[in-house]
Amino acid sequence: MATPHIEVDDVNLIAKTVLMPGDPLRAKVIADEYLTDAALVNRVRNMLAYTGYYKGKKVTVMGSGMGMPSIGIYSYELYSFYNVENIIRVGSCGAYAPELNLYDVIIAKAAYSESSYALTAFGYSEEIQEASPELTEALCEAAKGLGYPFASAVIHSSDVFYRAAGDFRAIRDRHGCVAVEMESFALFANARYLNKNAACILTVSDSLVTKQETSAAERQSSFRRMMEIALEAAK
Ligand code: HPA
Repeated sequence: MATPHIEVDDVNLIAKTVLMPGDPLRAKVIADEYLTDAALVNRVRNMLAYTGYYKGKKVTVMGSGMGMPSIGIYSYELYSFYNVENIIRVGSCGAYAPELNLYDVIIAKAAYSESSYALTAFGYSEEIQEASPELTEALCEAAKGLGYPFASAVIHSSDVFYRAAGDFRAIRDRHGCVAVEMESFALFANARYLNKNAACILTVSDSLVTKQETSAAERQSSFRRMMEIALEAAK
């Protein structure tokens, strides 16, 4: 049965493991480049979802949109109404730590946020939500197997991209966050509440420390390493 935001009627058209980039067109690129027999299964709001096979494993790739409200809706519906067990966010982040370089890969251990998402949705008052240990370990093992270096760290999930108040260094130093993105805290809270698995792998696309930014072409190649890791880790 369809949900308000996903038009898929047959739950079998969604795999147990879903990879979620923020950008739905990224989902199309992943399906085109990595999956065999990929079928477009969702078009509502252009939040494209494709289900296909990677080395014989059934995988769905679906955009999450930007921010916690958006990934909160899609991941909740995937877990609750489509029997999805594992969601791996594949995204970009801004570096808070001076030792991180553009294109570095980060596997999130947990997400700190000042967001009210977890409290409002589930009464969870903790300001840190943890990634699922097993799925996160699968990402780390896949990265090691492929020989790709990565950092394993706590990240900041922010509600705000353009931020004038406060200083990122205070958040970095107080909460030990090495980088910022905008989705994982809500994804991890949903997985916790629904007894499912969630993990997150990120590529550094800009640095708040050095103000460097990546070009679109450069992002594409660094993105390949992250995708290979996520696809290898998919169960
Ligand atoms: N802030 C928030 N989210 C991001 C950033 C950033 O600088 N870069 C990539 N995702």
